[in-house]
Amino acid sequence: MKTGQAWRLGMKDMQILPPHRHRSPLKKPTWIIVLVSLVSLFLVCAYVYPPQNSAACYLFSSHGCKALQNWLPPTSSRELTDDEIASRVVIRDILDTPPVIPKTPKIAFMFLTPGALPFERLWDKFFQGHEGKFSVYVHASKDKPVHFSRYFLNREIRSGKVVWGTISMIDAEKRLLANALKDPDNQHFVLLSDSCIPLRNFDFVYNYLLYTNVSYVDSFEDPGPHGSGRYSEHMLPEVEMEDFRKGAQWFTMKRQHATIIMADSLYYTKFRIYCKPGMEYGRNCYSDEHYLPTFFNILDPAGIANWSVTHVDWSEGKWHPKAYRSQDVTLELMRKITSIVDSVHVTSHERKEIQIRPCLWNGNQRPCYLFARKFLPETLNSLMAIFSNYTSYQCNWKKHWRLLEAELKIKKVAASVDDDDFV
Ligand SMILES: *[C@@H]1O[C@H](CO)[C@@H](O)[C@H](O)[C@H]1NC(C)=O
Ligand SMILES: *[C@@H]1O[C@H](CO)[C@@H](O)[C@H](O)[C@H]1NC(C)=O
Ligand SMILES: *[C@@H]1O[C@H](CO)[C@@H](O)[C@H](O)[C@H]1NC(C)=O
Repeated sequence: MKTGQAWRLGMKDMQILPPHRHRSPLKKPTWIIVLVSLVSLFLVCAYVYPPQNSAACYLFSSHGCKALQNWLPPTSSRELTDDEIASRVVIRDILDTPPVIPKTPKIAFMFLTPGALPFERLWDKFFQGHEGKFSVYVHASKDKPVHFSRYFLNREIRSGKVVWGTISMIDAEKRLLANALKDPDNQHFVLLSDSCIPLRNFDFVYNYLLYTNVSYVDSFEDPGPHGSGRYSEHMLPEVEMEDFRKGAQWFTMKRQHATIIMADSLYYTKFRIYCKPGMEYGRNCYSDEHYLPTFFNILDPAGIANWSVTHVDWSEGKWHPKAYRSQDVTLELMRKITSIVDSVHVTSHERKEIQIRPCLWNGNQRPCYLFARKFLPETLNSLMAIFSNYTSYQCNWKKHWRLLEAELKIKKVAASVDDDDFV
């Protein structure tokens, strides 16, 4: 597809060249010979280099061609708008700049909550002994939480009101990202809610997120009423219906991706104005389910995993996901969730198409989930009681992690991370 676009662009460039209407200084036969030779050369090249590279590009400049292709949107051949070109150069530049890796990279855990954090004591257990490898940020949109853990004390950032389903949710996420980006040691950013719990021990999460080069942003194509049905043509020309994606808001992302979100105003503005509850014709759109999945699908589709590492159970088919109660919390449940190795998406068609894809971690199928929701506050004590047990039930994976490390010769993110950190 890219080849086709480059070819068309090449043709356009050729058309821009002044037509040879004026009298040629060459005599007629010479002129014809030159033309015929050029056409033959062109055809030979087109024959020799067709699939990998555009012949037109190759003839003009094989180097310029690559740069040209970077500018092109992956799925469309239309001309980019000025805003789009400006936006793309900035984003491309950020993505192409290798990150400066600090001596001890940290993971930023960003909690988006109306008020209380019922699982602070569980998170405290999770963080204990890993000081210096994480930082905590809390965006409490309604009430200031009372803290039970020193890791959460004074970690609130200035917050704003959050109305469910509106752009204010994205604004809160951006506020968290901006504050977390201030610390250059933060290399990966995790968005969590007050009902999220950790499914793994700290080392597992740390290695899972830092030893891979993608962001875990959920993104899939849902042609049904709750997917493309929410799209508005007012988003054109920059956001086309075929680029529109859906996904859960609970992401983890690498630093470059957090930075490009800070740099974006073009796509953000489209969603702020044209993706909100109560649009025309009674249509509802929710930016927190569409902005980031669509943004990454347009600008860096290969840079995201397309699933969220936060598990949620929609299998009851209700308007809200399953909320776990005390009696649900058993080792069996935790093992069931932690051993899932496929991501599942269901479209909102009448047919309810199910899309199942393996969760690939650096190319190998691995467990999908690091966190889970939604747990009711009453589950805290049960979870505390079995935390060490369910997070140590990873013996089978221990072998795999080591194997994987050897296979891929993964570059150490930092010299300070030793082998023992692999669980
Ligand atoms: C991530 O790394 C793998 C292997 O190291 C590479 O094939 C892939 O292109 C990389 N992806 C991105 C988005 O950098
Ligand atoms: C995510 O999906 C997009 C298409 O929607 C695809 O181009 C990309 O390769 C996928 N990412 C991974 C890591 O498979
Ligand atoms: C976890 O629980 C199982 C059964 O309930 C028990 O057999 C096992 O010893 C426990 N493991 C740990 C590490 O506590």
